[in-house]
Amino acid sequence: LRVVLVTGAGKADVVRRWLIDGDSSLPISRVAGDDTIVFLDHAAASLLDGYGQATMTTLDDLSDLPRPAHLRELFADDPGRAERYTTTAADLRVDWSKNPIDDTVIASLLSLAETSGVAVRRDAMFAGEHVNVFEDRAAAHVALRMPKGSTFMIDGVDVVPDVHEVLEKMAAFSDRVRADDTITHVVNIGIGGSDLGPAMAYQALRPFRHERIRCSFVSNVDGADIDAVLADSDPASTLFIVASKTFGTIETLTNARTARTWLVDALGEAAVADHFVAVSTNAERVADFGIDTANMFGFWDWVGGRYSVDSAIGLSLMIAIGPDAFHDFLAGFHQIDEHFRTAPFAENVPVLMALLGVWWANGLGYDTKAVLPYSNDLARFPAYLQQLDMESNGKSVDLDGRRVQHHTGPIIWGEPGTNGQHAFYQLLHQGTRVVPCDFIGFVKAEHPYQEHHDLLMANLFAQSEALAFGRTNDAEPHRNFEGNRPNTVILAERLTPSVLGQLIALYEHIVHVQGTIWGVNSYDQWGVELGKELANQITPELVGEPSPDDHDSSTNALIAHYRSHR
Ligand code: F6P
Repeated sequence: LRVVLVTGAGKADVVRRWLIDGDSSLPISRVAGDDTIVFLDHAAASLLDGYGQATMTTLDDLSDLPRPAHLRELFADDPGRAERYTTTAADLRVDWSKNPIDDTVIASLLSLAETSGVAVRRDAMFAGEHVNVFEDRAAAHVALRMPKGSTFMIDGVDVVPDVHEVLEKMAAFSDRVRADDTITHVVNIGIGGSDLGPAMAYQALRPFRHERIRCSFVSNVDGADIDAVLADSDPASTLFIVASKTFGTIETLTNARTARTWLVDALGEAAVADHFVAVSTNAERVADFGIDTANMFGFWDWVGGRYSVDSAIGLSLMIAIGPDAFHDFLAGFHQIDEHFRTAPFAENVPVLMALLGVWWANGLGYDTKAVLPYSNDLARFPAYLQQLDMESNGKSVDLDGRRVQHHTGPIIWGEPGTNGQHAFYQLLHQGTRVVPCDFIGFVKAEHPYQEHHDLLMANLFAQSEALAFGRTNDAEPHRNFEGNRPNTVILAERLTPSVLGQLIALYEHIVHVQGTIWGVNSYDQWGVELGKELANQITPELVGEPSPDDHDSSTNALIAHYRSHR
């Protein structure tokens, strides 16, 4: 009997009842031939002793794999290595050869992907199933970039017409704002996924922006954020977009109220209709706030906040770059979606990059990953990925509610090159900790200064080479570079709207694959709730009646100090 374990919640019990109790009425969902059964859980492995042979690689196996040779040897022994370990997806050329791995490790990682059910869970996401199990809903951001006329079913309903209806409403509105010269400043008020995506993309697509309209992004509840933006705004020519999936986020509502008061003080209540629009899934709260729902752009609970830049949350971006470029952006996402959905794992860039990350985290014990765009326009990309990755996979409980027995999501950080080189690269080259790096660069510049671009790209290639190969200096150990530091280089021809969409989709799918292998739900974020709840409790304690002293002694003293000095 050959048993293949795949993935899924609650299947260990099914295995036990079927194998041990002989319960033949159970819905064994996947039987591949007479002698092969596919079960859906890692945990079931322990039950199989004596019953069959599990053909699987587990996360635990990774730390036992023989360590590959130093990259110097791997390259010296294999002149074709760079070519063999460079894979293309749409316009992205991904060179992963400078990761210390060999064919044995790759084979094990690919086996891990198979046995962890990466294909099953990927297909479940594309089928609109409730992969966000703890919130019992779909995580169907891939539906946001489906071409018009295609079909994507969620809970028995084709959502593609709804997606395109909103896109058309956004396009009509954007065209109006772009054509009429009343509005010259668009202020997006949102936080987290309702800020980081459009703010990052607005900066990334600098050369594609409308010349008359600038966008600002207010996110922080720190009044300094909105103060700086309002000080630089003229009420008559400013449009506010209040972007909040829930329309219940305290930071966003506080900033939106301040902006509303500022506008009404200058232009009167009637001006709100022309200067405020909302992006949300919650029409009732939008109306309660005082924005006419006719001026609201909707989206759906199956779009996670950090996966929403390609929904109506991207309205400010669409106004800036225009509907056509926004459609190119969506088409870029869709190209990578199709690649992820159809390419064999050995040629599937999101799967390969996800597996490299699993090897770093679970095989080698590296805790962090640096994302280093050699593009000033992509300066906010690392911050964007921090939310995408860390809010998705920073989890310690699996789909069955058990504590995981391995590390999950890495700490993501980074800065654009070459700035980072003069700050933290010292540690990357000679520190005691190994930090795997993703370099991102573009062959063509989006500015006229070719000399700058050649210098920039020379630095990218040099850093990748130096990290991988180092330089031996036995005489002066402080000048020795060990090398063998893993890095991946993503190159595209230009940073266009389509390529930006491709890059975002690539990382979204990396997160999905890793979440599957680690067995966590990538689509909820309960970890942010406790802090929010306590802040709500503490806010009234800072003013008014003396606080009840019902926190710990440290928190009580901090509150008391603040109260007496504020
Ligand atoms: O930080 C938690 C979070 O819920 C994020 O997931 C989300 O992107 C952000 O807050 C903003 O939420 P909303 O769009 O509902 O205002």
